Amino acid sequence: MSDDEKARRARAEMPVTGRKVYLNTGTAGPLARVTLEALEAGGRFEYETGRGTFSSFPVLLADIERLRAGFAALMGASEEEVALTHHTTDGVNIVAHGLAWQAGDEIVTTSAEHEGGLLPLYVQKRRHGAVIKVVDVGHRDSPDEIAVNIGRAIGPRTRLIAVSHVNWNTGLRMPVESIAAIARERGVLTLVDGAQSAGAIPMDPASSGVDFYAVPAQKWLCGPEGIGALWVRAERLSLLEPTFIGFFSLVDTSSYDLSGNFMPASGARRFEVGTVYRPAVKAMCANLEWLSEELGWPWIHARIAALAERARGALVAIPEVEMVTPAGAGSGLVTFALRGYDPARVVAELEKSDIVVRNLHDPEALRISTGFFNDAEDIARLVEGLRAITAKDPEALAPPLF
Ligand SMILES: Cc1ncc(COP(=O)(O)O)c(C=O)c1O
Repeated sequence: MSDDEKARRARAEMPVTGRKVYLNTGTAGPLARVTLEALEAGGRFEYETGRGTFSSFPVLLADIERLRAGFAALMGASEEEVALTHHTTDGVNIVAHGLAWQAGDEIVTTSAEHEGGLLPLYVQKRRHGAVIKVVDVGHRDSPDEIAVNIGRAIGPRTRLIAVSHVNWNTGLRMPVESIAAIARERGVLTLVDGAQSAGAIPMDPASSGVDFYAVPAQKWLCGPEGIGALWVRAERLSLLEPTFIGFFSLVDTSSYDLSGNFMPASGARRFEVGTVYRPAVKAMCANLEWLSEELGWPWIHARIAALAERARGALVAIPEVEMVTPAGAGSGLVTFALRGYDPARVVAELEKSDIVVRNLHDPEALRISTGFFNDAEDIARLVEGLRAITAKDPEALAPPLF
């Protein structure tokens, strides 16, 4: 099957792609038919059959295991190393709060992180006196420069390096393997925020040398909201104290006594806490199976990267475009400014033509995400939409609603 034919079939399974030029997967990917059907079937089952039936509990446990296995396969990991979470930030919090901090311990991070990757670290500063060291990462820095600068920031008190695999603002792919190698040499742990990498680029936490890797379902994996996963390297499990704990964290639901003793599950499952939204679990299982078995990760990753380069090439041909994302950035995000135009107004204006992109504040810019389901026509329509905007006076664009 040709690349275009495969993409056409994928688009047919994601109806929003026929209605909009959907270029905002970095915020939330489109839902596929198989995912919606599983969500609806799960909801209907709960509605018609009842949620608390004796026979439905083993089904729930089996679904949870199936989902953990799905994330483990995605991350090239063992199921024992995966905990289901609710989003990326959940996973970052589990690690940040789970380590035992002493006043003066240092965390090295970068200027290119999302709040989800940063704020859980800041709490360690406020609560325990940890020191946050921010390494400046510019979008023109080479992977080698980034790794060297991070290495230079490591001191005798550094305990953790926390970086995203793909920077959410510029789309730059971070050299996590080199960072992890430097960290290991110095006895420092590495936590990766995989919000913009999971489903977008190849990732292999175990062989990359990092220690913790947090991912969401709703972005490049096109899954429902409220689901994510955290990978914890098996040897690092004992370093993390559980912050939140509940009946799903235990070996089984009776693994505790009334003297304050409890027995956490042996694997990363110990960080799972309580009731989950079952339809979303079923939907994410079906979704991951569709992506990995019907489409295949190599095809998905190659197409995302090729479309990002194509979009970048088409955008730089617009005279008003100031490109932020460097060529070969290696992700599905392309960030650029439209000289003289307020990005928020441009987003609102494009949306009137059913072109969905987002604006950023640092840098003040527009960001597009090229999903595997996008095509050349989407990019052409984006360029057309931007050219129509640059034909107007910047002040003629309506101010954004918020
Ligand atoms: C790099 C990065 N980290 C974290 C987040 C927060 O993601 P979540 O809502 O899955 O916690 C985002 C969301 O855009 C992101 O881009």
